[in-house]
Amino acid sequence: EIGARRIARQAGSLEALEAALKDFNGCGLKATATKLCFYRGAPAADLMIVGEAPGRDEDLAGKPFVGRAGQLLDKMLAAIGLSESDVHITNIVYWRPPGNRTPTPQEALACRPFLERQIELVTPKILVAVGGAAAKELFGVTEGIMRLRGKWREVAAGERKIPAIATLHPAYLLRTPAAKQLAWQDLLQIRSKL
Ligand code: URA
Repeated sequence: EIGARRIARQAGSLEALEAALKDFNGCGLKATATKLCFYRGAPAADLMIVGEAPGRDEDLAGKPFVGRAGQLLDKMLAAIGLSESDVHITNIVYWRPPGNRTPTPQEALACRPFLERQIELVTPKILVAVGGAAAKELFGVTEGIMRLRGKWREVAAGERKIPAIATLHPAYLLRTPAAKQLAWQDLLQIRSKL
């Protein structure tokens, strides 16, 4: 959508981008959500983490990754020496999908201009896509997360090309603890590039 692209580009700060999102009605998810979930962590950070979508806890708090999955995400970051103040955490959509379903391609597309502008404003050294939905959307590919994870790619944000990697979603790791060893390999790759 042309309008969203222009609106997002014009935002000269994260505050302006958040204000623009509050005025934006181009994503259908807004109608059923309680709160906008923009980001958690540092405004500018070397590491920017992009998840799938706010869940119930996030919708109530107005911040990404504050529920059980978020607590595990924080532990994963702590394992490589990072705390909330070292990272910028967001999602491919800014509002909770009803019943926590995966966002549709149209919903992600509607939010995309804002996410790209957000990446430009945060100026991260590295992007991490958390889970299959975020990886597919950020990388513009269709393979499953098990094929996508652990490999460096590049994501364009404005003039810059940012090294990006996908890892397993903490909600998946909560259900499948044996997969934590794969996530650990990804975390080590992330640490080595920071
Ligand atoms: N899962 C996500 O992908 N994002 C959140 O913000 C919370 C749970």
